[in-house]
Amino acid sequence: MRLLFLGDMVGKTGRTAVWEQLPGLISDFRLDFVIVNGENAAGGFGITREIFQSTLDAGADVVTTGNHVWDQREALTFASQEDRFLRPANFPKGTPGRGSGVYIARNGARVFVSNIMGRVFMHPELDDPFQSGEQELSTCPLGEQADAVIVDFHAEATSEKMCFGHFVDGRASAVIGTHTHQPTADHQILDGGTAYISDAGMCGDYDSSLGMDKEEPLNRFLSKVPKGRFEAASGPATLCGVGIEISDRTGLADRIAPFRRGPRLEETVPAFWS
Ligand code: FE2
Repeated sequence: MRLLFLGDMVGKTGRTAVWEQLPGLISDFRLDFVIVNGENAAGGFGITREIFQSTLDAGADVVTTGNHVWDQREALTFASQEDRFLRPANFPKGTPGRGSGVYIARNGARVFVSNIMGRVFMHPELDDPFQSGEQELSTCPLGEQADAVIVDFHAEATSEKMCFGHFVDGRASAVIGTHTHQPTADHQILDGGTAYISDAGMCGDYDSSLGMDKEEPLNRFLSKVPKGRFEAASGPATLCGVGIEISDRTGLADRIAPFRRGPRLEETVPAFWS
């Protein structure tokens, strides 16, 4: 199975680049399943129903999120109505929406997708992501109810992401880190067969600070006096993510490689897609 995961769409430039390019990517590379993290898609803060729907219309199978999921209040309503919209599974009991789901890929495979958030340097009050991960995976085990298991681990600390990868190694097809918006070069297949990357990067303007106009973030480092709000950068977007080849036989990963397309970072397409 051929999977594309695209990192956090940031602002209008990020989301429109995804909407414009995703249909072509799906047909050119015969992608079976596409996951996009959308938690920064509305001006850098949250996601609206319209943006969510347009991302599905472009070909995404699932939209994942993270700490910014509720920045647009309407998400609190549509999260409970849209099966393909995920918020972190380790939010407190009673939180609207869902943290995981099973979806049918274009090749017929049953894909279990789970969105989990880290706690280190972020939100220590969340439920333990390791225990939540254990629980999530036990509801839909790889090779039983699922032909592939994908975790979007939305976290700040690479140590927490890496340890989560090892924790579920052999039980998930892939653990893909999101949130930091900077693509890492540590994509690998772990010993047990789980594809892993600490961060998929973002779909946004890289002439920025993490997708936001660079002036105000820089000002906040230089001065304690805010001069304005954080605004999403509006220059041309670079798409960042990973391509993963998952064995139809075992559900584990055979290959993982970065995908980058756009004007700012070095472009790359997984060699096993050609
Ligand atoms: Fe985030």
